[in-house]
Order: sequence, then structure tokens, then C-alpha cells
Amino acid sequence: MENENMLKIESVTKLYGYGILGLKKFKALDSVSMNVNLERPKIAVLAGETGSGKTTLLRIIMGIVKPEIGRVLYRGYDIHKLKGSTARWYRKEVQPIFQDPYEAFNPLRRVDSYFYDTVTNICGIKDKDEIMYRIDESLRFVGLSLDRVSGKYPHEFSGGELQRISIARALLTTPRILLADEPVSMLDATLRVGILNILKDLKEKLNMIIIYVTHDLSTAYYVGDDISVMYRGTLVEHGPISKVYQEPRHPYTSALLNSVLEPDPSLRDKYPAVKPSSLELKEFLIAGCRYANRCPYAKEICWTTLPPYIDVDGVNVRCWKHLDYKL
Ligand SMILES: Nc1ncnc2c1ncn2[C@@H]1O[C@H](COP(=O)(O)OP(=O)(O)OP(=O)(O)O)[C@@H](O)[C@H]1O
Ligand SMILES: [Mg+2]
Repeated sequence: MENENMLKIESVTKLYGYGILGLKKFKALDSVSMNVNLERPKIAVLAGETGSGKTTLLRIIMGIVKPEIGRVLYRGYDIHKLKGSTARWYRKEVQPIFQDPYEAFNPLRRVDSYFYDTVTNICGIKDKDEIMYRIDESLRFVGLSLDRVSGKYPHEFSGGELQRISIARALLTTPRILLADEPVSMLDATLRVGILNILKDLKEKLNMIIIYVTHDLSTAYYVGDDISVMYRGTLVEHGPISKVYQEPRHPYTSALLNSVLEPDPSLRDKYPAVKPSSLELKEFLIAGCRYANRCPYAKEICWTTLPPYIDVDGVNVRCWKHLDYKL
């Protein structure tokens, strides 16, 4: 069955409340679709400015947030309907690592206790030697060892070490997919590349799939195989990262790449601003393309109707410019 090797995000829409009572709703995600072939190891970048819905999408994939419309299928199973042993199996298959490693660990709890808990309770391993072996093996993969970690508390590690430890912990369940939400943004620049190289190793040596969320388009290019660009809850462009960077098809992707990658800083200001502003909510409420308000090509249809996903030379893009609408 084709579904057996796929993670399929099918037209997912998530509503959140706004206003004083939160009774009015906006679409934090609007009909987001994405397919991930589980047989092909890769680092899939999810990029977009703050509030574009990246974390919401990861939470939906983890199963902790449920979409109002659409579904997520993992090997054919609707992950929001899993129960009992299948739910436990899925929790092992998809593991998150977070932006701030210090928030992932209780400061009063020894770090190694998390490892013993995961191996015994989630993986169900009872043999003491095997428990120690599994923990040491996962820590060695990230350049540490059980000896170095044993008996210590979170504050006894640097941010970089603690992020390695949280990756090692995620590896204990031998997941297929790692969801990495801005895993290096809190770290010093000198430590970032070490963590990014671990993500590459996970792909190359353990054949994992990593969904790497970032604002930072330079590190994205360093590690990424493909990229999905989000804007105000919509996925505007998705494709191989080299193609998208060389020739962005969506006006938002162009603006984003130009403002970040322009080598001459004096020229950067000439490009449209992509920083969040008070316009954010107004843009979320546009019925059509959320970028219409800022787009130099916007025509009437852009304001009223969200374009479909259009395949342009192997890149998926949601922009009317690429259909015959004489914009
Ligand atoms: N539980 C919630 N209740 C109401 N609104 C929410 C909730 N969670 C997120 N939002 C809103 O949904 C939108 C998307 O948020 P999300 O956290 O997914 O963005 P993001 O792309 O991860 O941003 P960042 O880059 O800042 O982490 C934002 O406008 C946010 O304020
Ligand atoms: Mg986020």
C-alpha cells in the first residue's frame, strides 16, 4: 500500500481564538498539505517568520494539537485517532527536541534519570546491562557518554551539551522522525554547527528524517535537503532547497531570501520588510493569499481566493502568478 511509507499531512486547518474573549477565530494554519516519504532520509526545513504556524504544525504532527479540518496519516494511520499500543508505538516513532534545552529538563532532577525512565517505561527494557548499553550508545552518538552524564543536574552542562543530551534522549526510542523546533537558536554561534552536524549524522548514519524548524535561512541551506516556506499559516512554497534558493517562485520567498541573503548590507533595506508587525492578524484574516497585502503582483483574485498548490518545475507553489490568470 502506498500509504505505508508515508507521513501525509492532508489539508490541515487549525483555528485559534482572538479578541478579548477569544470567541472570534483565525486560521493559524490553512489547508497545509505535505508528504514525507519515510524511506528517504532527509532534513526537511520548515521556515517562516514568527507566528507563521511552524510550531503549531509540529504539535499537530506530534498529535498533541488536533486540527479542526484535515488529518495527518502516518503509515496509513490517522494519528489523532490512535489508541493503546498503536498510540504508544507512534510516540516512539516521532520524537521532538526543543529550542531551549534547559526547559526540557527539570533543574532539580538528575539528567540520567530521564534516560532510565525512557528506556524502562517507554522502550520496556528490563535487563540492566542492556539499559546501560542503550543509554551509553545514544550518548556516544552525540559525542558524550553515560560516564560523563551520570549523576549530574542540568545546570552542570553547557547549553550545547544539554541540547546534545536531549537529542540522545530522543534517540532512545529509535524514532523514524525527529522534530527539531529551532534547536540551535538559543545557542552561541560557535556551538551551532556542532548540533547541526549531529542532525546531518542522524540523517546519514541512522537514516532518519528530520523536520528542522528555523528562521535562519543560512543554517537551513547548510543542512537542508528541501524547504517548506510558511507565511501566516499557509505553506507558500515547497521544494528542493537548492531550486528554491536559486529561483524562488513565490513573491514572499523572494522577499525573504533577498532580505537575508543579500551579501551587501547597504542593499538589504531596499527589499520589502518581512518582520512581524501589527498587520499580522489583519493578514491572517485575508480570505485569499495572506501575502496579498505586501505583494507587488497582487490582483483581485489574490485577495479573495487562496491559490491551490501548483507544481512549477518540481517546486510546489501557492501563487496565482503561476496559473494563467494574467496578473
Ligand atoms: N494556543 C494558542 N492559542 C491561541 N493562539 C495561538 C496558540 N498557539 C499559537 N497561536 C497563534 O498561532 C499563530 C502561529 O503560532 P506558532 O507558534 O505556530 O508560530 P511559529 O511559526 O512557531 O512562530 P515562532 O517562529 O515565533 O516560534 C500565532 O499567531 C500564535 O499567536
Ligand atoms: Mg515556534
